[in-house]
Parts: sequence; C-alpha cells; structure tokens
Amino acid sequence: MTGLRSRAWFDGDDEVGLLHRAALRASNVVGDPAQDQPVIGIANSASELNPCNLPLTRLAAAVKQGVAQAGGIPVEFPTISLGEDLMKPSAMLYRNLLAIEIEETLRAYPLDGVVLLANCDKTVPGALLGAISADLPTILITGGARPPARFHGQRIGTGTDRPRLWDERRAGRLDDPAWTEVERVLGAGQGACNTMGTASTMAMVSEALGLMLSGSSTIPAGDPRGVELARHAGGRVVELVGEDRRPSTLLTRPAFANAVRVLHAIGGSTNAVIHLIAMARRVGVDLQLDDIDRLGGDVPLLVDVEPSGTGLVQDLDVAGGLPAVMRQLRPLLDQDVAGVDPRSLSDILDAAPEPSGVLRPRHAPLRTGGVISVVRGSLAPDGAVIKTSAATPALLRHTGPAIVFHGYADLRARIDDPSLTVDADTVLVLTGCGPVGVPGMPEWGMVPIPARLVAAGVRDMVRVTDARMSGTSFGTVVLHVAPESAVGGPLGLVHDGDLVSLDVTEGRIDLLVEPGELDRRRACWTPPASEHLRGWPALYAQHVNQAPDGCDLDFLTAPTSEHRRFIPPVIGRS
Ligand code: FES
Repeated sequence: MTGLRSRAWFDGDDEVGLLHRAALRASNVVGDPAQDQPVIGIANSASELNPCNLPLTRLAAAVKQGVAQAGGIPVEFPTISLGEDLMKPSAMLYRNLLAIEIEETLRAYPLDGVVLLANCDKTVPGALLGAISADLPTILITGGARPPARFHGQRIGTGTDRPRLWDERRAGRLDDPAWTEVERVLGAGQGACNTMGTASTMAMVSEALGLMLSGSSTIPAGDPRGVELARHAGGRVVELVGEDRRPSTLLTRPAFANAVRVLHAIGGSTNAVIHLIAMARRVGVDLQLDDIDRLGGDVPLLVDVEPSGTGLVQDLDVAGGLPAVMRQLRPLLDQDVAGVDPRSLSDILDAAPEPSGVLRPRHAPLRTGGVISVVRGSLAPDGAVIKTSAATPALLRHTGPAIVFHGYADLRARIDDPSLTVDADTVLVLTGCGPVGVPGMPEWGMVPIPARLVAAGVRDMVRVTDARMSGTSFGTVVLHVAPESAVGGPLGLVHDGDLVSLDVTEGRIDLLVEPGELDRRRACWTPPASEHLRGWPALYAQHVNQAPDGCDLDFLTAPTSEHRRFIPPVIGRS
C-alpha cells in the first residue's frame, strides 16, 4: 500500500528510521515496519473499573487477527475507561479528556487507521470525538449489551428497573433480603446496559452515521458473532486506509439527519443529543438543538425497548437490529450517505428483515412525532430537552409550584423529609448540576419522587433541571436547561412556590413571576464558588460549552478541515 502516513516514521535508511522500526519490532507486533504495511491502532477501553467494557478484551484479539490477515500491522493501546456507574461525579466530565487522549495518540504515533473499542455511555462519543478530529480511517466496535438479570422471576433491564425498585424499597415494599437479591442479580454479567440507555443509543446512532459495520451495534456481549464481526472490522479498516475513507468524508449533514431520525425511532437517550451536536461541530456540520426536534417530527417510534417500551436490546437484535429499523424508516432517510461498511445503505436495507418482535412496522408505531422534544422559555432561554416517550402524557402540559433543591447534596438531604411541602402537582427543581456547575453535568436529573408520595401511589411528577438523565430513566423530566444555573441561567433564580409552566406541545417552559422579578433576582445573584481550582476539572469548567452546543471544550470544536491545517497528514521524522 502506498502513501501511508506511517511511512514518515519508518522509511529511510538513516538511524532515525532504524530507531522507529526497531521500536515497533520491540513491541512484538505482527508485521514488518520495513514494508509498506498500514499500521492500525486498536484503541481499547476495556478495564476492570468498568464492567460494561470488559467484553472488549476478547474482541481486541479478533480485531488484531483481522488486521494481520488483511496485511496490516495491528497495534493495541489502552485508553482511559469511562465507567458510568463508578466514576464520580460523572463519566461525562471525562468524555472530552478521552477525546483528547484518542486524538493526540492518533496524531503523535505512526498510525494509518484505527479501530475504536468502546461500550459504556461516554466511551463511545469520547472515542469518536477524538477520532473525528484526528480524521484517520476509523471503525467503531462496541461490546454489546449484558445478559438480562432476573428478579422474582421477572427479567429486569439494567438501569430502567433500578429506580423503580428503589422507589419500592423507600416505600417499604422491598425487605432486606429482596434488596440484597437485587444487588446480586444486577452484579452478574458484563456488557453495556441492555435497555435503550445511552450506550445502546450511541452504538446505534454511530452505526446510522456509518461509523460501524452494518448490523453490529446490537450484537449482545458474549455473542460469537461479535468476534466474527471484530475480525471483519480489522480487515475492513485496512481497506478503508487504502480507500482513504475518513470520518470527515462520512459525517455529512445528511448522515447526521439520518442519525437523528434513528435516535427518535429507537426511543434513544437524551444524552445522544449532546453527543451528536458535539460530533457534528467537530466536522463543521451546524447541527442545532432545534434540528433534533424538527427532524423527529415525522419519525415513528418503532422499537419497543425500555424505557420507552417493554423489551430489551437483545430482543431488537433478534428482530434484525438497526438495519431492520432503518428499513422501516427508509422513506425518511438519505440513502446516498456512505459508511465504513463496503455495501451501500440501499443494499443493506434491501437485505434487512421485515419487522417482528419488538420492532414495529412503520404503519403501527408505538407513537409518532419523535421521542425527544425541545422546550424554551423564560426558564430555559437557550433550550432544554424532554424525553416525551418516557414521560407521563398527562404531565406534558402542567403548571405547578416549585420546590427547589440546590445541588445533589441538598436533594439527597431533603427529598424524603416528611415536612417537605410537596404534592403530586409540585414541580421538583434541581439546580447547580450543569456542565460547569458540578462540573460534568451528572445524570442526577431523574429526581426521586418523595417517599411519602411514592407510598401514596404517585409514580411521576414534573422535574426540571440543568443535569442530564440516564438514557435508561423515565419520567416527565425537563433536562439540560440552558443556560445552566451556575453561569447565571434563570433556573438558579427560581424560588420555592414560584409557578413553573410546562407545555411540550407549545415547546415552552416558563417561570410565571411578575415582570421584572427575574431581573431583580439576577441583580442579587452571585456565581457559586468553584470547588475545583486545579487539574482537569478546573480546565473543564473554564472551557466547557453549554449543553445546546454539545458540552465540548471551546478549544476542541474546530472542524476537522480547519484542524487539519495544524495536523499535517504526514508528520516529519524527528
Ligand atoms: Fe455502562 Fe450503562 S452503565 S453502559
């Protein structure tokens, strides 16, 4: 193969070329750096700190085989692993750090292409953001969803059922042995959440963007097809290097429009809104919050998987995975987009099965009109999102008095306080949890229903916050309110008892206070003192964009074409 970027390191008969070739040989790689073989990085985020990503270990070995069989030199390297469950305050705080790590590794080393191995929520967008900016031929492989747990004879979805069970526990309906059993069954099995959480959503959205091989995004963890697919991906990325097919050539506006429509059709996570906008901005596609709303307007919800439905991701895989979903969406999709799969999208859809099981036909959807809506108003001038498919329909138009919790500690301390003045009409407001506020915008948005109300049978209330919410969560929760309270957004000016009005049909969320009242409160407002004065959290808080801009760092958002002026495709030898 000619014209390889890596030859800038390995060509030449001088002592520098010799040093570079010897260094690669010392890593015991398969292949010969003296030959024109493409060097393929395998960015592996497997870690025992992150059980969601452990299935990637055996997939990495298969990718290596595939690369070597196709004539490439596979080089595996570790990345930080962003485990949603154990990282505090939030894996989201580190998404951009992973992106920087991937981008700089691809830039600094003699690599011609890369296979990204990611699974848990933020590892997929973090790895993709970095690879997009490095703009080497890229294929993403995910590790798949973990096997379903069983509790009291019922199959329970990861993430979706835990908050429900917690509500049962707080209402006194789950005793100690039952609670211990919940922990035991949830602790069995590795892989991503098996509901339509952020991990599954981002995998499917990435496949829709053309960054994964067709049909790969729903293969469950441990499925033998995953190994076969990984081997195939290793071979395919070598071909992509020969074709010079890079993320910047794939990630067009139509590709993002397809991905947004898929997001709505699968009942995907609200987190994907942030990630898609960040990815688009990296290639110079001006994807806006309102595009997410507009593009979903005519999209049917086709996938009956929790939290919008009842099944699990494994069930969707049985029904044909994303190709089968996209076949149903065909009239709404641009089929001229290109991807890493060697087949055209049209050919892929022709070969996809008809709907069955948890996949509904287009004429009989679970609902229509998109699953994520954007609302704006005096409480969210720059916008906020709500997952309407996981909300209570009767609450999508609601006005009620606010109870304000100033941060997560305040919430935990008071939410079950018997003296809290709260009823089913109250709007629970959580502030101080945005990108700057914590920092990192944790998934604290699904504010628990006060225990007293749970015991009385209340299952949902309107909640409003600048935090995010897990894709596995449910409820009438207005999220990503921007500007966030920590930078002076109106959310931080809400007082207990203020009336909050939500009208999703009208796209509005408003604070019903006297004219001029918000200005008076703002004049007395002072920004909260930052607890993070050094290191990554301090850098992040200084540079992170608000949610409608993708929560990227301001100095990372240069589109690929601009960025490449600073990263020549061939780097001279030192
Ligand atoms: Fe890792 Fe859900 S917590 S995928």
